Amino acid sequence: MKIVFATNNENKTREIKNILGDSFTLLSLQDYNITEDIPENEETLEGNALHKARTVNNMIHTDVFADDTGLEIEILDGLPGVHSARFAGENKDSSANIRKVLTMMGDAKNRKARFRTIIALILEDKEYIFEGVAEGKIIKKERGNDGFGYDPVFIPDGQNITFAEMSLDEKNRISHRAIAFEKLKTFLLRYQNNKNRV
Ligand code: IMP
Repeated sequence: MKIVFATNNENKTREIKNILGDSFTLLSLQDYNITEDIPENEETLEGNALHKARTVNNMIHTDVFADDTGLEIEILDGLPGVHSARFAGENKDSSANIRKVLTMMGDAKNRKARFRTIIALILEDKEYIFEGVAEGKIIKKERGNDGFGYDPVFIPDGQNITFAEMSLDEKNRISHRAIAFEKLKTFLLRYQNNKNRV
């Protein structure tokens, strides 16, 4: 089964290839010489993921999926959420994003937060949505050097280290993205098996 991941981020493509395994031929936008960034202007993660998947599906008429992720902080009514990448400005500066979040939270007792990944899949012209969530809390000072984005201030439930203090393997066992992509994989494998049976 050939499927396109609507991203230009080669790191992400490699990571997802690893999760999906050999049962699928995973292509990225680079394989179609599409280099433009698809705008993410919708008000929800679902809206952005669907918009990206539909845009690429209209361009190349193949099965395609797209993802969008956000950090949702309870006491900030779900912010930065869909604005996570550009929370402190257009240049997607992770340190500035973290500073802004920590300033807004101040000494708040309620530090509950979650990462949420949404995948929108268009398969044989039908649309499907998959979700992966990692619940946790925001600490007051950054810890750890690995990972990216908000990893240095996020401790997932059941752990006492931040995502930035974990190895990539450790993070990938419990992360929002890994959970969402495992769901996509299970669905695609079942879909493929059912087709082979008919
Ligand atoms: P994207 O939809 O995967 O591009 O993620 C949007 C933004 O959410 C990123 O630019 C990061 O700021 C943040 N983000 C997404 N995934 C993670 C993660 O695993 N750790 C920390 N921050 C993340």
